Amino acid sequence: MTAPRPEPARLVVLVSGSGTNLQALIDAAADPAYGAQVVAVGADRHDIEGLRRAERRGIPTFVERVGDHPDRAAWDEALTRAVEAHRPDLVVLAGFMKLAGPAFLARFGGRTVNTHPALSPSFPGMRGPQDALEYGVRITGATLFVVDAGVDTGPIVAQVAVPVEDDDDVEALHERIKTSERAMLVEWVGKMAREDFTIDGRRIRFQPKDQS
Ligand code: GRF
Repeated sequence: MTAPRPEPARLVVLVSGSGTNLQALIDAAADPAYGAQVVAVGADRHDIEGLRRAERRGIPTFVERVGDHPDRAAWDEALTRAVEAHRPDLVVLAGFMKLAGPAFLARFGGRTVNTHPALSPSFPGMRGPQDALEYGVRITGATLFVVDAGVDTGPIVAQVAVPVEDDDDVEALHERIKTSERAMLVEWVGKMAREDFTIDGRRIRFQPKDQS
């Protein structure tokens, strides 16, 4: 007799744009062996393709705009409550263009990951592909990390290298990065869902889930 499959881990994914990373997670989660399901998608703005991708799959969505709250702290609290309502095991920031605030980190710190389109610690911030291109590096990539209070500074879960081609512009380079970034995200979020992990300083260590 085989052991019953454990309940899939509950993922809440936050987006701000096109949501191709979200789509990759939704597609992967269609296979029960993946071990995770996207239970809700949140955004900091309306009318984005990322939200539409969720709606097309019947996944609940929510929006918390900074401008709808008296200040950033109130937005942080509201976002935290909105995410909490879906009881996530893991929160995935996938192209979410806001920094997580103190309330969010107090609740979901250590189980929130973000993906950044550069090889940390190089080129943090909103312009990773552009900064890499302007610097003239021949290799850049993407980094999956556990979110902390800094800008793309948290402990690194995984990285993938991507070459810069001679005729790249920012868009071509970012699209090449995103192809590898999506595969990395799917692989490592799945691993975080299926295994136990501990964060030891800046190192993440995985161990098989205790099934007893
Ligand atoms: C990704 O490259 C992400 O790392 C960056 O913005 C992009 C989002 O792409 N912050 P998408 O919305 O998942 O298509």
